[in-house]
Amino acid sequence: MITTNINKAITALTNEDIAAIPTETVYGLAGNIYSEIALNKIFTLKKRPFYNPLIVHLRSQEYLQEVALDVPQMAVRLAEAFWPGPLTLVLKKNPSISDLITAGKDTVAVRVPNHPLTLALLKELEFPLAAPSANPFGSVSPTTAEHVEFYFKNILEVILDGGACHRGIESTIIGFENNCPVLYRYGSISAEEIEKVIGNLNFKIKNEVNPNAPGMISKHYAPATKIYLTRNVPALVREFPGKKIGVLLFKNKIEDIPFLYQEILSPSEDLNEAAGNLYAALIRLDNLQLNLIIAELLPDKGLGKTINDRLGRAIK
Ligand code: TXA
Ligand code: MG
Repeated sequence: MITTNINKAITALTNEDIAAIPTETVYGLAGNIYSEIALNKIFTLKKRPFYNPLIVHLRSQEYLQEVALDVPQMAVRLAEAFWPGPLTLVLKKNPSISDLITAGKDTVAVRVPNHPLTLALLKELEFPLAAPSANPFGSVSPTTAEHVEFYFKNILEVILDGGACHRGIESTIIGFENNCPVLYRYGSISAEEIEKVIGNLNFKIKNEVNPNAPGMISKHYAPATKIYLTRNVPALVREFPGKKIGVLLFKNKIEDIPFLYQEILSPSEDLNEAAGNLYAALIRLDNLQLNLIIAELLPDKGLGKTINDRLGRAIK
């Protein structure tokens, strides 16, 4: 049930139940990090494999030592630069953190989300929240309370409505290996912005055999409709005569396609705006019973890289 009443979320979470919560990136499916019951509910509801670890959400940086140990100086600088915000740090875990959260690893992923309702909620709770994105495993992440309800209708008792997610794409994930920073998942903060704070990053984006992040498993973030990617949408549209085609475009619409079947991510060519609109646009197109979706690849820089990464994983 969708609600704006924070007390309903407090009651559910305190009683080892789960609740959907808004963040600035996407909606999360949250539970008490110290409750095995709540953590198991998250995995069951999402149909998420246990090898996929969860992100811990803290109310502020001061609580970091509750979940992590030996935090490197570079991580502190990143936290100071970007928290609260869409940056997840992978750090050595505190022994009190459940193996369910970390998938048995010795590291834990953690961030401070930047959403007023969820920060208010975290301040009322005596424990941090573990929260994956609030979608069934493999599907497009939700950026509104209505998306969450569509996925978990009559199953999820509390969906805390904080409006449309301001960023619209998941957090960027950074870890540290041999004292060097590594980007594991492209996200709402561009690699360039992070490099301005700590210098050059290493990249470990794809590892399908032993994924460090589900964002690394290809065929993630996928709509049900078949999707094709191209830098020349009109040319590809002509290869499917007679088909009902939806198009996902960066800035310009195409004259001979019904307007209903077009999604323009940012008429002003703003990559931040495009990222914010991506998932909602994909979900709208996916609900139109189309034969296929053709998506335009964006410029490969800044958040364009993040958007292209997600589009690449949306291919079935
Ligand atoms: O923006 C976000 O990060 C959203 C909101 C709800 O905070 N959450 C999110 O969660 O995207 P989820 O579960 O969909 O993705 C979590 C990612 C996965 O790619 C997971 O593998 C990675 O975090 N992760 C978690 N713990 C990790 C660890 N110890 N080492 C490496 N990656 C980790
Ligand atoms: Mg997810």
